[in-house]
Amino acid sequence: MQREQWNSRVGFILAAVGSAIGLGNIWRFPYMAYENGGGAFFVPYLFAMISAGIPIMIMEFGLGHKFRSAAPKMFSKLNVKMEWLGWLQVFCSAAIGVYYVAIIGWAISYLAMSFDQSWGTDTNSYFFKEFLKLDDHSPLSLGNFQWHIAIPMTIAWAITFTAIFSGVKAGIERAGKIMMPLLFIMVILLIVRVLMLPGAISGLNYLFEPNFSKILDPQVWSAAYGQIFFSLSVGFAVMISYSSYLPDKSDVNNNAFMTVLINCGFSILGGMLIFGILGYMATEQAKPITEVVNSGVGLAFVTLPAAINLLPLPYILGPLFFLALVVAGLSSHISIIEAVVSGIIDKLNVNRKKATIWVCAIGYILSMAFATNGGLLLLDLVDYFVNNVVLLASCLIELLIIVFLVKAATIREYTNSISDFKIGIWFDICIKFISPLLLIAIFSTNLINTINEGYGGYPTLDLFVIGWGTVALMLIVSITINVRSLKTAS
Ligand code: PHE
Repeated sequence: MQREQWNSRVGFILAAVGSAIGLGNIWRFPYMAYENGGGAFFVPYLFAMISAGIPIMIMEFGLGHKFRSAAPKMFSKLNVKMEWLGWLQVFCSAAIGVYYVAIIGWAISYLAMSFDQSWGTDTNSYFFKEFLKLDDHSPLSLGNFQWHIAIPMTIAWAITFTAIFSGVKAGIERAGKIMMPLLFIMVILLIVRVLMLPGAISGLNYLFEPNFSKILDPQVWSAAYGQIFFSLSVGFAVMISYSSYLPDKSDVNNNAFMTVLINCGFSILGGMLIFGILGYMATEQAKPITEVVNSGVGLAFVTLPAAINLLPLPYILGPLFFLALVVAGLSSHISIIEAVVSGIIDKLNVNRKKATIWVCAIGYILSMAFATNGGLLLLDLVDYFVNNVVLLASCLIELLIIVFLVKAATIREYTNSISDFKIGIWFDICIKFISPLLLIAIFSTNLINTINEGYGGYPTLDLFVIGWGTVALMLIVSITINVRSLKTAS
């Protein structure tokens, strides 16, 4: 059977940008920048974008295009003993897919509430006590199932399912073509309105004001690299899968540059939007901005609802903001689930419809663990371990495989041969030296810190069962699949 293909170059770029732009840009980037030195964060961030983001994107697009397979099969074509890495990346995506949909679910609920701001004035206790009903639960005692969270999550799953079930052209590409322009229009409207509010510019100053004392802090560099990988969806099997549907003639280098630059530009817009709103809020309440900011999930679901209460025309700007969050999240969720579905299609030779039904059904059931009282805590733990431990290791191994098995120069020559825009030797330097060395430094620091200090003050048992347990399970299953394919092949 012939491999599915994108209909047009724009369609592919919109899908790749749709994957990259997500909750990571509108909600995660602003507080990452804020916590890690404001304007000074841009130095490590831009360095990570140039040294890792762009070259790895080119590399993944090139690999997907050359091998025309999703990640597990692609790695096994490189070397049969490396298939496990593809599965590990697929499992990273799967783990993110099941909690990411919960955040989209919350955003759908908040979208509905934003028309009359029914979250009330105390948005903090509303979110944690009334909406999530967190009480004193923990990742291991999740409490009860919450229908009001499960129902919007079901809506999100239904949209993802429909897009993937309908195929690359009719589903994923079409979703990107509708969602991305819509998202750009909404965010631009919001920014234009917000920047005209009194105090908005002081918020921007706050975001962009550099705190150079942070620039030598390894934590800040780790945050910048982590943000680049998460935000660009590289190392998650996603971009390999999307580029495996490219036609022969594809300007891979140019496409990769565009995807990265559009995504990172959009992050800066996201930062301006959020900090503009915060600056306005601080001015309205005559408080310093540090007192109105909230990091983590609190930013989107506590601070912003409170800010929306104060905005002029809250019933228009509020829904616009939450709709933008939902749309950005959905287009990423589609790509996350497609990474899993395409991995299975290519490996087991099942058809798309069947694979989609199975993956979405299992994903749906697993994701319901996040629709419980303790869902947020479970989410926090899984998110930390996947993004700070497994993902970094998998990106590092991916680079090492490329350096030792394929050679960076071979990839460069390949992508140059199909692209109008040629890349130079800087690509090899980033792939061979800068990125692996920095990843080794960041990964080992994270690993040592997590082993010594745990994370987020969670009890050791929770860290073991949920955190390390997830890491171990992902590794064991990936390796088992690889061993089985080696056996059946021999
Ligand atoms: N890049 C997406 C975001 O910024 C999240 C994502 C992670 C998508 C991993 C695909 C894979 O929100």
